[in-house]
Amino acid sequence: MRLFARAAAIIAALAAFYSFANHHIHKLYIFDPATLQRISRDAIAQHPDNMTQLLDTLVLSLRNEYGPHVSSIRGDEWFVNNAGGAMGSMTILHASLSEYLIIFGSPVGTEGHTGWHFAEDFFTILRGEQWASSPGELERKIYRPGDQNFHCRYKVGQYRLLEDTWALELAQGWIPTMMAFGLWDIFTSTLDLETLWRTCYFTGRHMLFSALKGKF
Ligand SMILES: *[C@@H]1O[C@H](CO)[C@@H](O)[C@H](O)[C@H]1NC(C)=O
Repeated sequence: MRLFARAAAIIAALAAFYSFANHHIHKLYIFDPATLQRISRDAIAQHPDNMTQLLDTLVLSLRNEYGPHVSSIRGDEWFVNNAGGAMGSMTILHASLSEYLIIFGSPVGTEGHTGWHFAEDFFTILRGEQWASSPGELERKIYRPGDQNFHCRYKVGQYRLLEDTWALELAQGWIPTMMAFGLWDIFTSTLDLETLWRTCYFTGRHMLFSALKGKF
């Protein structure tokens, strides 16, 4: 009985701490979803037919808005991600303990499970088309270039990227907790150790550099 009481007290304390921290985590955020959508729409309007130029313009505008918190895209810093049955290619523009901003997509297309996260997600389509649905929704939702798909934390859904779909993805919340979902398939399916290394190295480096700039 004593042990049970102690366990209950620890769980209650952790829940109270989580609730308190959750209430304050937004103070760490620097990215504004509406601004990201506006910047994305401008870049799409300028370069509707050339993804390379679209990304160049997008990242330049993001750096004008957010300064050194957004890094330039380097050709050798792309890597694949397998999670929830979906596969795509990504590069990190920003990562810290409370936010990440990435380019994610696939020329081939993909489909899978969103994952259950302690974070919310703003997925702004740059090119192509995304379909999404949550349990009980009998019609799919369709997102096209310039649209932003908001995915609430603690919610799950199915999504599909049609061929040649790219997005600017912002996640806000407890980012390190998302790593389990992001890496699990490496151990159970792909055994792609190079991607394990690249994912951990690029994410860790961005988080460290963000922390050194005082961004957590
Ligand atoms: C897009 O632009 C880049 C750089 O300006 C150029 O090298 C490339 O050929 C263009 N691609 C297409 C499909 O027009």
